Amino acid sequence: MPNSMKKFAHALPKAICITLVFMVFSLHLIAQKQTNPRAQWFVDERFGMFIHWGVYSGAEGYWKGEKHRDDNDYAEWIFYRNRIEKDEYLTLLERFDWAAIDPEQWVILAKKSGMKYVTLTAKHHDGFALWDSQVSEYDLGNFTRPKRDIVKELSIACQKHGLKLGLYYSHWVDWEHEYGWDHTKEIYPITADQYDIYWQEKVIPQMRELLTNYGPIGLMWFDMWINHSESIVTKAQLEQLKALIRELQPDCLVNSRLGLSIEEDPDIDFRTLGDNQLGSHKLDYPWQSPATVAHSWGYHARDADWQSTTALLQALVGNVSLNGNYMLNIGPKSNGEVPFEIEQRMVQMGKWLHVNGEAIYGCGGFDLDKDLHDWGKITFKVLENGRAQLFLHVFRWPYHQGLTLTGVRGKPELVYALADKSKSPLGFTHDEVQTKINIPALPPDPYVSVIVLEYHQEPSIVSGLVAPTVDHGYSLTFKNRLSAAGQSLLVDKERRGTIPEHITIDGRYRSSWKIFVDAPKTLSIDASYSFEGQPSQSKIVLHAAAQTIDQLIVPNGQTVGEPKQDWHIPNFTAHRLGNIRFPKAGIYEISMDLETVKMDVLRFQWLWLAEAETE
Ligand code: GLC
Repeated sequence: MPNSMKKFAHALPKAICITLVFMVFSLHLIAQKQTNPRAQWFVDERFGMFIHWGVYSGAEGYWKGEKHRDDNDYAEWIFYRNRIEKDEYLTLLERFDWAAIDPEQWVILAKKSGMKYVTLTAKHHDGFALWDSQVSEYDLGNFTRPKRDIVKELSIACQKHGLKLGLYYSHWVDWEHEYGWDHTKEIYPITADQYDIYWQEKVIPQMRELLTNYGPIGLMWFDMWINHSESIVTKAQLEQLKALIRELQPDCLVNSRLGLSIEEDPDIDFRTLGDNQLGSHKLDYPWQSPATVAHSWGYHARDADWQSTTALLQALVGNVSLNGNYMLNIGPKSNGEVPFEIEQRMVQMGKWLHVNGEAIYGCGGFDLDKDLHDWGKITFKVLENGRAQLFLHVFRWPYHQGLTLTGVRGKPELVYALADKSKSPLGFTHDEVQTKINIPALPPDPYVSVIVLEYHQEPSIVSGLVAPTVDHGYSLTFKNRLSAAGQSLLVDKERRGTIPEHITIDGRYRSSWKIFVDAPKTLSIDASYSFEGQPSQSKIVLHAAAQTIDQLIVPNGQTVGEPKQDWHIPNFTAHRLGNIRFPKAGIYEISMDLETVKMDVLRFQWLWLAEAETE
């Protein structure tokens, strides 16, 4: 039980206490298989705030009238990019409005936004400590009167509002210390012994301060985005640092940007993906995407590519559906103010989480094939009593038709929209591996609507199926196929995507798929391909439900991608192959043989199966 809960349980009558205990435990859910017990809170809480704030916040992406010298425009890199001298850099502090700066406001915003922890850049690459450090003169205590200690202020605010405190500490890169790493040292090297002076006289003692003076630290967030073997930092130095954390704060988590991967050292608590990189597949160990609302981390006056609230929520949901976490950044200004565009979106996310948080906190991925449903993503949770909940996050509302879940064998006991407080049951049918839900005509939420399916236990699944799409058909591609035989070459999309991703076939090729058909019906079948040869004996042959369709490949020439640029590209068009009758409900295998005459290359894209109009 969290400490805050314990404190207040004393004052309550027994019956209420029992209910509270039950609530706390019933919120505790599926553990990701490879999760260290100290990281359980992290995989339960899923959503946190990153705070990039420091001396660079006063520059706003400019120095002496010149914009930041890198199109990547990370405002916190201005010191290095614009080759600023380290004492002059601190003149930026004169722009800070110390009376207005109040870290508690960041914590209040995090809380309002449904975030459960905050991670502050205690020391970024510029080497400047945002606390009153006795180890280095390059710190806030030395440059503020009265002294300010932002780490302390933030830790007090976090404790007050019940959020965990995480600290970012740039261990590898430090532009201030003579022997800290900056990339220029690739040209003018320092010795390992010199680097160790920096390590022993700045990193270790500063980390000791952070781990001793600021109460419980939920996580330490390091930032070396290459493996230690490629850097000046030695594995022994990293292990020394990690041992210090384990000694002083045994519950504190450590991320993989320490420079050690989880594969190399399973004692690392979570993996950090690349900046703004979202998950692409499910992982059993904890992981996290650091993300920005626009682009820069530190405040940059020219940041303009603000993502929508919907896009941010979809990113959060997408990560959770793959067992991942999401940490979204604020880059406050030199008066502490959070840019309006960020604050607005975060508050909207908080409102969404207030209604739909059950589908995020304590949830993880469900084992259905990734990207199976084109309507959205699924998160999943098993409650203490063994009951299971599937949350369908609908990004694309299927107007005028039901919402179809494919691949789950179990039948739900109850289905409702999460936005509906009364949980009025939605009608549904369940056949073998398909649940069809009668959803309301309009989505109940303006951002992402969530439909809950409750089961008395974790339902079993059938993998390898192709689910029907929102536009009511089956799209069979080389990505969702069951098997393939023969030679083919995968060609990525080209020329701005005007040439779609496809496979080329020269010879014989066979591929198969599995679909579920919910009633006797006839499906029409189209094939999208491009063929520039002569009319020939090349063939496409389809087998399904004991029927065969056999058709010659038709040449379809080229098309124009962009006018007046000789942008002539292969023409991918759909060819109706014919109809197949599926005599009863059930799972069917569809197989396709392509037989091309030598040298006549066929570019194959997809098959599209849809209910035939003529029945
Ligand atoms: C990169 C950048 C840094 C930023 C971080 C956030 O490592 O160097 O400026 O703090 O990503 O993920």
